[in-house]
Amino acid sequence: MTTPEITKAVKLLREGRLVAIPTETVYGLGADATNESAVRKIFLAKERPHDHPLIVHIGNIEQLQDWAREIPPAAMKLARAFWPGPLTLILKKQPQVLDIVTAGQNTVGLRIPRHPVARELLEAFGGGIAAPSANRFTRISPTTAHAVAEELGGKVDLILDGGPCEVGLESTIIDMSGETPVILRPGAITAHAIAAELGLPDIASPYAQHETRAPGMHHLHYAPRTRTILIETENIPDMLLALDRDDFPAAFVVNSDVIMPQNDKIRCIKMPHEAAAYAHDLYHTLRKLDHQDFKWIIIETVPQGEAWDAIRDRLLKATGSR
Ligand code: TXA
Ligand code: MG
Repeated sequence: MTTPEITKAVKLLREGRLVAIPTETVYGLGADATNESAVRKIFLAKERPHDHPLIVHIGNIEQLQDWAREIPPAAMKLARAFWPGPLTLILKKQPQVLDIVTAGQNTVGLRIPRHPVARELLEAFGGGIAAPSANRFTRISPTTAHAVAEELGGKVDLILDGGPCEVGLESTIIDMSGETPVILRPGAITAHAIAAELGLPDIASPYAQHETRAPGMHHLHYAPRTRTILIETENIPDMLLALDRDDFPAAFVVNSDVIMPQNDKIRCIKMPHEAAAYAHDLYHTLRKLDHQDFKWIIIETVPQGEAWDAIRDRLLKATGSR
């Protein structure tokens, strides 16, 4: 990334325009978080309903108090331990934080991303950048600059290309504004890692119940256009038998060593065995498959265990299985 590119991005943000930003999780669609008309453009570009609050990205921990108040020591602990990185803290907001950013709630989501391009931009900009994932509402989050262009094309004034996103899934969201910490969206930073940092036995993660507060939870979020279903490993052989002419070609996305046919009707994509590598590839794989003329995308369920929580969550949403 060249510095002139960052200079241009800062100029655009100051003019109230939209800049797509690479982060380590997914690409974000950024605007100056203090400029109401700029933030409004984000909702227009994404076709996102206004009751869905945005995350404000900041460049350093000192800026936290510009956005949040009554920050509990536990939140500071998490910020110091995991920032910059894929963790979003929900905190009580400062009065001046725009309603359009918080969807009128009294809390605000904050995160310091660790992608070097995002960090350089935030440092040069000096303020908060409101940025949801740079996809149209309910679609798969983009993990490359190319995917952003596909999703939002002419609606964004500049796309900073920072290469493929390292993590590949959206940040962990933890609500630190109440009595006890609650995970609203699982991500690369696990409940166990957070609990260990806070010296707690465990952390509540009733994320399935937070329909309105975390729109990522909506039925059919992060969804391909192609009909997509989730299937247990042991049901794959029956599924193969049940498919008929109208169902072909069908794509299978597997992660176990299940033996699969590979022919002009069935295409089998073998995903990595390791959770972080699987997460890195998932959205990119689904996006690629969605561009082909498959009648079905059939995804094998993933292993139990916390390392797979975020992946399992996104697969359930991509297939409307909740
Ligand atoms: O990894 C990420 O978090 C990416 C990158 C770009 O930072 N951003 C992202 O933004 O995934 P978005 O808008 O697609 O998802 C943000 C989630 C939404 O589900 C939203 O409801 C939740 O964060 N959120 C934001 N502010 C909130 C608040 N004050 N209270 C509860 N949930 C909030
Ligand atoms: Mg999103």
